[in-house]
Amino acid sequence: MALIALAADKGSPGVTTAAVALAAVWPRRVLLAEADPAGGDLVYRSAAAHGGPLNPNTGMLSIAATARRGLVPDQLWDHVQPLSGGLEVLVGLGIAEQAAGLAGLWPTLGHAFAALADSPHAAADVIADCGRVSGDTPAVELFPHASLVLLISRTEPEALARVRDRAAALAGKLHGGPRGAASLAMPMIGVVLIADTATAGKLASQVNDMLVHAQTGARVVGTIADDPAGADQLAGRKRGRLDKSLLIRSARKVAADLYQQYGAAWAASAQANQAQQPHHTQHSHPGQMQGHAGAGA
Ligand SMILES: Nc1ncnc2c1ncn2[C@@H]1O[C@H](COP(=O)(O)OP(=O)(O)OP(=O)(O)O)[C@@H](O)[C@H]1O
Ligand SMILES: [Mg+2]
Repeated sequence: MALIALAADKGSPGVTTAAVALAAVWPRRVLLAEADPAGGDLVYRSAAAHGGPLNPNTGMLSIAATARRGLVPDQLWDHVQPLSGGLEVLVGLGIAEQAAGLAGLWPTLGHAFAALADSPHAAADVIADCGRVSGDTPAVELFPHASLVLLISRTEPEALARVRDRAAALAGKLHGGPRGAASLAMPMIGVVLIADTATAGKLASQVNDMLVHAQTGARVVGTIADDPAGADQLAGRKRGRLDKSLLIRSARKVAADLYQQYGAAWAASAQANQAQQPHHTQHSHPGQMQGHAGAGA
């Protein structure tokens, strides 16, 4: 199973952009969940597959209305909308006040997101945009269910200091204390830097050393290009060949590296879980597109 949760501290904008870019190039079927308690952005940025706007009431809001009676992973598909380009999304809340409707439901959501990869009908990984993390954001309740928590960070010194401290704090909370870099504790905590492509490699290695030295148990798993034009294109603010953008090319590399490194482990755990389920028939969920579908990338 693979729930990949993305988040960032203050001072490191780019979570939604990274989540959409990674989902658009993900090597397996993927569901992008806008789980930011502060509200989603896709409604404002992306058109639905039918050409019109996305429906803000179908997604996290409609899940909030039904999940109190329990949430079977495949039920998530009832709340999904395809973007133009095919990417399947759970549209986020409208405004932060609506997050009250999800109070107490975050662990249920986390479980359903993680278990979607084991669905015999319509299996998918879930990439969850959890927005800004601070000590008390409820979205951290998704993290214990994730295979991987990705902290997005800019490369200014204060942003790097924050991501180091955040990784250490999360490791304490999720793993019960700081560990070495070789820690196999779940979920893995990875840092993704948003960096200038010219200096990204060198910076990634320096930041990784810093994370190891500070015994955060986290490491740098990749870099996303600092590419304002690509980010504007992905958000529908600008036209252009998105698939050739530095942003999408860097996201492809991050997704491929993650899959190369963890794909086998994720598949094995999905298979083990599926074997425990009584009947499994291989048919797709009605209305779902098979194979990979990207957000036009
Ligand atoms: N990789 C990137 N390169 C350049 N600019 C970026 C990148 N990612 C995001 N941006 C820009 O930063 C701003 C915030 O991006 P985004 O919405 O992805 O951040 P966020 O962390 O999700 O913010 P919010 O807290 O509002 O949800 C946008 O103007 C976006 O175009
Ligand atoms: Mg966002």
